[in-house]
Amino acid sequence: PLLLGVAAVFAYFCGCFNGAVIVSKYILRNDVRNHGSGNAGLTNFFRTFGGPLTFVVILCDVLKAVVALLVSQWLMFSGYTIFISAASTTAFWDTFAKYWAGLFCLLGHMFPCMFQFKGGKGILSGGTIAIMIDWRIAVVVWGGFLILTALTRYVSLGSLWAGASFPFISWYCYPQTPIIVLAFCLGGLIVWKHRANIQRLLAGNENKLSFHRKKT
Ligand code: G3P
Repeated sequence: PLLLGVAAVFAYFCGCFNGAVIVSKYILRNDVRNHGSGNAGLTNFFRTFGGPLTFVVILCDVLKAVVALLVSQWLMFSGYTIFISAASTTAFWDTFAKYWAGLFCLLGHMFPCMFQFKGGKGILSGGTIAIMIDWRIAVVVWGGFLILTALTRYVSLGSLWAGASFPFISWYCYPQTPIIVLAFCLGGLIVWKHRANIQRLLAGNENKLSFHRKKT
């Protein structure tokens, strides 16, 4: 339990390093949350500012998820070797650690304590987590995301696919209750964070992905 707690806190604080907020607030001196959809995410950063700094946002959100998962895995592995000796549980703990850290990393990204708990919707970090968990999950989540976004130019529609499909493909790949529960929490958080997008999609006034910059 102690290692689970340490991993959760570490992953949460990794998640708090929200690339869009950090780059817009401290480099551009113009908080992205005051623009566009108000979301602290890659889509809104690109929509509002664009430019090469978009890659810094990507790097930040990808790296923090990688670090959160790797460290958590390492912690759980130490716990496994010290406290648990059944070899058959290694694979379970390894996967569980990634889902566990993924959930807390996403919570940090969505509700960062140092940025008034106003973060993003977890697509880039969540997508990185999916890649790190299992390539089959990554293919389903990213494949659907890219196809839907390319066809409709609604990033949010692709994101909703990603959030909604994640628990089901996780269930298929890892049919163990603790992992399924974590997967539904992860996917559910992403879908819930998109509730305003769902309303806009239904009303037909959702923002489309555009490469033309709006004045900020
Ligand atoms: O990455 C978040 C995306 O799904 C939607 O972003 O800014 O259009 O609400 P936004």
